[in-house]
Amino acid sequence: MPQTMQISIEISDHEMANSIIKDLESMVDVKVHMWYGEMGDKGTLAIKSSPDIIIIDDDLETGEIFRRLPKMGHIFPQTAIFVISNDKQPKHIVEVMKAGATEYLVLPLNPSVLTNAVEEVRAKLTETGRMAKGTVYSFISSKGGLGSTILSVNTAVTLAQTNDDGNAVALCDISFQAGDASVFLDIMPKTTIADICRNFHRLDVSLLKGAMIKHTSKLELLAAPLNPEDHEMIKAEHAEKIIGLLTKLYDRVIIDCPSMSVNGFTLEAFRASHKVFVVIDLSLPAIRNAVRLTQLISKHGINKEKIEFILNRYEKGSTLSIEEAEKSLGKRIYWLVPNDFSDIMSSINEGEPVVQLNPRSLIAQNILSLTQKLKGKLSDKEYRGAKTAFGRSI
Ligand SMILES: Nc1ncnc2c1ncn2[C@@H]1O[C@H](COP(=O)(O)OP(=O)(O)OP(=O)(O)O)[C@@H](O)[C@H]1O
Ligand SMILES: [Mg+2]
Repeated sequence: MPQTMQISIEISDHEMANSIIKDLESMVDVKVHMWYGEMGDKGTLAIKSSPDIIIIDDDLETGEIFRRLPKMGHIFPQTAIFVISNDKQPKHIVEVMKAGATEYLVLPLNPSVLTNAVEEVRAKLTETGRMAKGTVYSFISSKGGLGSTILSVNTAVTLAQTNDDGNAVALCDISFQAGDASVFLDIMPKTTIADICRNFHRLDVSLLKGAMIKHTSKLELLAAPLNPEDHEMIKAEHAEKIIGLLTKLYDRVIIDCPSMSVNGFTLEAFRASHKVFVVIDLSLPAIRNAVRLTQLISKHGINKEKIEFILNRYEKGSTLSIEEAEKSLGKRIYWLVPNDFSDIMSSINEGEPVVQLNPRSLIAQNILSLTQKLKGKLSDKEYRGAKTAFGRSI
């Protein structure tokens, strides 16, 4: 369900067109079609590509825009039409908008005005159900330090890197008091979720997009506040809108939750999630807490079926067996992650996710398979990460 926006550009000035294409292509989830024909051919490309947005220029000498706009509106009633013009006069702007333009963008074009306008269209398409919403996965440890942040960061980076279906990926760190996702990604966030909450009254797609920080993997991070005091800005009632907007903007949204935390904010994350991954290890306290957590979450009306267990740091010789753990959990464990201390430690010290730093490592390969399972690309539906070297060690 890629949410790729199809954009057709019909602009005679090649230099201007190319600079617009460059701005649009900086957005990961956009496909641009360019018209290179003669004046008389305008409109043919748009017809072929059935775009979500058409961008056209305003030929002030011929006034052609007033003929083209109604015609385009008739052929593409669902498409947003952006007009790029040199004319700043309010009267002309009003006339162009009346003739059917969705957006009127004045030259010289500010790239963020353009990309925000595209995001507004995407949000509207999602709202009206014409574009699928993103899939949400939450990660929560059943005990402090079991690995929810390591797994959510590396899963999100892998999804962003294996961008084979044009998906845009966001990671949202809701560990407000001790958010480590930015540390693991070596990002010093200038904006965090606290800024969004501070400006909640004017929260829209562009404000949210502006607060997201791009990582080298193309992943975009909504960071947790740096100052623990800032977390007081964040209220449970902010959660629904923030997560809702994220699902309009991104195909996949990963949410890293504070361990064992069931509160208004995390519950909203669980509610929006397609899967809630409870990270455990093979220890009694972790299993016992996971059972409690599942009961508590489902008491709040969240479907138990979507809660899945990820067994992290698994290695041979644990006193508790997988079967015993599953008996207590009442469910087959969804995925097994190997204990890979040295690769994880170098990744933390280097500030580079292990899937980037050492993609051949056991854990990076394991997480790659996990993302394939999430995308429904594993032929063996029962597979849960234990084959190859890791599998043999079990
Ligand atoms: N698969 C693994 N192999 C080896 N070490 C791991 C693995 N997963 C996690 N760790 C170690 O566990 C530590 C804690 O992981 P992480 O910060 O992801 O846990 P958390 O559940 O998010 O903790 P918190 O409760 O603080 O949010 C990491 O710093 C890392 O050293
Ligand atoms: Mg954490």
